[in-house]
Amino acid sequence: MTCYPEKPQSHSQPVFPDGFLWGTATAAHQVEGSCVNNDVWLYEHVQGSIYTESSGDAIDHYHRYADDIALLAELGYGAYRFSLEWSRIEPAEGEFSEAELAHYRRVLECCHRHGITPIVTYHHFTSPVWLIREGGWEAPTTPQRFARFARVVTERLGDLFDIACTLNEPNLAVLLAEYGMAESRREDRASNLMWQGVGEALGIAPEDVAGFQLSGTEESMRIKIAAHHAAVDAIKSVKPTMRCGWTLANADIQARPGGEEYARELRQRNNIRFLEESRGDDFVGIQTYNRAVFTAEGMADPRSDAAVTPTGEEIWPWAIGNTIREAWEIAGVPIIVTENGLNTEDDSQRVEFLTVATTEVGKAITDGVDVRGYMCWSTFDNFEWVFGYGPKFGIIAVDRTTQERHVKESARVLARIAATNGAIL
Ligand code: NOJ
Repeated sequence: MTCYPEKPQSHSQPVFPDGFLWGTATAAHQVEGSCVNNDVWLYEHVQGSIYTESSGDAIDHYHRYADDIALLAELGYGAYRFSLEWSRIEPAEGEFSEAELAHYRRVLECCHRHGITPIVTYHHFTSPVWLIREGGWEAPTTPQRFARFARVVTERLGDLFDIACTLNEPNLAVLLAEYGMAESRREDRASNLMWQGVGEALGIAPEDVAGFQLSGTEESMRIKIAAHHAAVDAIKSVKPTMRCGWTLANADIQARPGGEEYARELRQRNNIRFLEESRGDDFVGIQTYNRAVFTAEGMADPRSDAAVTPTGEEIWPWAIGNTIREAWEIAGVPIIVTENGLNTEDDSQRVEFLTVATTEVGKAITDGVDVRGYMCWSTFDNFEWVFGYGPKFGIIAVDRTTQERHVKESARVLARIAATNGAIL
């Protein structure tokens, strides 16, 4: 492996505090299978879709969660972050499914049986189609609708978990727009084949289709922020001791000479604005995959000698150290690394990435940053949104024909780091 110039140092003492949460993360739509009642399923299936394939059965985690959670426990992980699928729990507005609430109760009980701390995400990108029909993430009514869902879920399931993530990556659309991947402006959606197809299926105008991931208008940002605060209030009104936060897509934004203004501007819109909104929360979830480097010409491509992922991003495991320091400086609340990981076919690259990344987290802790947990993305190879099943982020591989799970070396290495609280780093 030649992509890392520095090797982590070796410690003989634990670097991470007692009680530090070591775990892995998934999201419902990416692993459960057949989430047929949400907007992303619809996007996957319309003509002109930018999704390369359907999520289909995914990795059938909906039915296999018990074996999956048992496997995580056997490997030695103490935490598992997963999301509730809103479209299953509230398939029609105001109508809550007892069967699906019972399903997630079983999942939570299963975590406890195995001594695993559940970290529950209330919204991880997918929304019920009825919400999108009502204006989705650009409708002023959405924060209250989300808060109602959050209240019901907390009333019915909140006795079984203590850490709640409201929204996953409300700031992602800012980054996607920067990479030219989001139809962030309403007027751009009108001429886009996919939004036209979705609009037709929903009986609304294409420019009114406001999904969570791809809608980056200022209106949408304000609504996501309001939805987070409303959900925290709703959750706390039911269970005041619940530790609440959201999880942010924060890249390590860097500047080369001449790129300072670009970097400052994106950092403000994507990282700082959302960190400032996290100041009253119990924690902030930080999710970082790489760095974004700006030059006088704008965002720079990875250098030609840099190691890159199959989707072309530079492999830069040091990024997480910088983003958690930034979060601590600006939000000043405890941090959970709710996602960090690498898309690679070569698991030895992942082993090295996770070793360097956890070392960086350890260094930040030593310097006084209050970090409470590290969740690797992802537990399994899974459905990577528009890219389908191509990218491999998992520390456990899945044969999607037989649905057999195969533990990779990286799962064992990270478990060893966890078992010694970083002493082996
Ligand atoms: C962040 C998202 O939360 C997750 O759903 C996605 O799969 C990973 N990033 C990797 O791109």
